[in-house]
Amino acid sequence: LFGYKSNKVSGFFEPIGHSKEDQLLLPKGFTYDVVAAYGDKINEAGDTFGFNNDFTVFFPIEGSNNHGLLWVNHEYSSDLFVHGAPAGADGKYTAEQIKKSLYNQGGSIIELKRGEDGKWAMDTKSKYARRVTGLTMMKLVGQAAGSNAVGSAVQVQGTFANCSGGMTLWNTLLTCEENFEETAELAGLNPTHYGWVVEVDPFDSSFEIRKHTSLGRFNHENTAMGLSKDGRVVVYMGDDKKDACVYKFVSKEKYIREMGRANTNLLYDGTLYAADMKKGKWIALTIEAVQKALADEKFKVPSLIKAKKEDLLAKFQTQADVVVNTHEAALILGATPTDRPEDIEICPFDNTFFVAHTNNDNHGNIHGHITRFFEKDSDLGALEFDFEIFAAGGRQSGFSAPDNLTFDSAGNLWTVTDMSSSSMNKGVFTSFGNNGMFVIPTTGPNMGQAMQFASAPLDAELTGPWFTPDETTLFLAVQHPGENTTDLAKPTSMWPHRPGDTMPRPAVVAITGFQF
Ligand code: FEO
Ligand code: CA
Ligand code: CA
Ligand code: CA
Repeated sequence: LFGYKSNKVSGFFEPIGHSKEDQLLLPKGFTYDVVAAYGDKINEAGDTFGFNNDFTVFFPIEGSNNHGLLWVNHEYSSDLFVHGAPAGADGKYTAEQIKKSLYNQGGSIIELKRGEDGKWAMDTKSKYARRVTGLTMMKLVGQAAGSNAVGSAVQVQGTFANCSGGMTLWNTLLTCEENFEETAELAGLNPTHYGWVVEVDPFDSSFEIRKHTSLGRFNHENTAMGLSKDGRVVVYMGDDKKDACVYKFVSKEKYIREMGRANTNLLYDGTLYAADMKKGKWIALTIEAVQKALADEKFKVPSLIKAKKEDLLAKFQTQADVVVNTHEAALILGATPTDRPEDIEICPFDNTFFVAHTNNDNHGNIHGHITRFFEKDSDLGALEFDFEIFAAGGRQSGFSAPDNLTFDSAGNLWTVTDMSSSSMNKGVFTSFGNNGMFVIPTTGPNMGQAMQFASAPLDAELTGPWFTPDETTLFLAVQHPGENTTDLAKPTSMWPHRPGDTMPRPAVVAITGFQF
């Protein structure tokens, strides 16, 4: 039995084993309710829940742990399930298909209630429930807004490829545009309008949705927000690509709690840093530094950049060019390429932060690892750090490809895995079974030991774990069940096995059973 204890909840769970069942499996005593699945009506206007749910974040209504809004990311659209056919096989989509693909990405705001019977359900009469999609107009703010680097744009169309995200200190959410390239291309949209961190207020549709360009443009996985010792806002971010860097943004001004949502302005102006893991230093990504490096006679273009020095000199003219081309700027300045940095979380106890380096087959890191960073003097605003490999994927730990992370208040790190549906249950991935969710204590005698808490249905990954503040409910998104299906008449999964369904559906569940 594995014990968990926090100031609110304590209990035990019996870790489960690996599975190849087409079920969402949980330890004894835990159950789940499906609260929303692809295509479900979410409000009276008839908006529907998007495809491939990922990040979730719960906003209590009037402080309740049984009633609130849930924001859910929709990462990508699968042609077979969304269009009913492998559209685009000839490289062409109809205008209607493009519209549908864009509609089914972005995010959903849904209202959830836990009934007297203890079950969670969606309230489709909600006055808050709405969609934010690849068709919604929003604005660019910060260092690149209106610049040549984004085609002078201030208003842009939509958000898509929304992978993970984070909550702000002022009760809004940040949703992250990750693998945006394909959708931008097929929809004929300007790629510099995507790859940003996007802020939404779930309670207020009059709050203009904004893309925070000062946080850089790359394959954004997530945000993890905290405060430096001197009170500035710090945001840690992963760039989910092979050989990509770990970033943090530090605001210029200080956070003022009483200012509430007006603190959004802190994300407009500040310094973006990338991690140099050899020197243990945060490198400031400024136009002055990039131009100086490029002008240096001895400067050699890093092998990961496929451009000539003259082209780079022409490309980097202003700070807007730096934030729009963040990955290149970071490599030019000597930041360390890493093994697909996915989610990042700040430990609630000691200000260390954890990065899921999911894997990188370019150099044999097949099962990935979780890295723990120690900022100097435990100050999130520090310019120096140290790190260790906290837990490594593989047969011994029992997990492969860590992706999303979340903490409970006892200091346990919860991680979900993302072995790709094409490699799952094959070759060196055979022993892991389906993707799962694991609990790893970050202190105490079981530190670093992974215990399995959930096993995903076939072809699926578990994403976006998020606890209610009292930790009695854990929201979890089940993404891409049955993704290997090639014939709709023979789906490889039928999860969530709802009566009447004829295909698998990505869905969000509410897990309960945590004991007081
Ligand atoms: Fe969309 Fe990085 O996982
Ligand atoms: Ca992810
Ligand atoms: Ca997270
Ligand atoms: Ca992933």
